[in-house]
Amino acid sequence: MSVPRTRRRPSATALAEMAGLATEARERARAPHSRFRVGAALRMATGEIVTGCNVENASYGLSMCAERVAVFKAVSEGLTGFDAIAIVADGARPTPPCGPCRQILWELCGNLTVHMATLKGRSRTLRLSELLPHPFDERSL
Ligand code: THU
Repeated sequence: MSVPRTRRRPSATALAEMAGLATEARERARAPHSRFRVGAALRMATGEIVTGCNVENASYGLSMCAERVAVFKAVSEGLTGFDAIAIVADGARPTPPCGPCRQILWELCGNLTVHMATLKGRSRTLRLSELLPHPFDERSL
């Protein structure tokens, strides 16, 4: 599947709305092991938004990050044309997506705007290409 790599950044209002939905999704996180609750909100260019939260397991390696829950939900519903993801956690600094999530997001969503926010309202917005500057993808195969 080929995914368009360049899209415009959503407005500040849209990013704030996404952060709000990610904050709500975070409330549904299952994180009894790390106690680190994360919410994500993935937006299509149409404005439709799909959320996710982290879901942990006692077999720790089976735990799933909020970002991947959101993107797998969206892809499994047949949604396409992603333009941004918001990630909310209760860290001192905005939480960036982990390495595996960067790889998955790149392949399934392309060069998203990644809006990272804390519960206290600190935020940082980057493009996925800034977080994953030399990706391994279908062009490498
Ligand atoms: N986690 C996420 O859901 N997203 C991130 O961007 C970073 C980490 C989760 C995985 C695990 O359940 C917990 O946070 C601690 O690593």
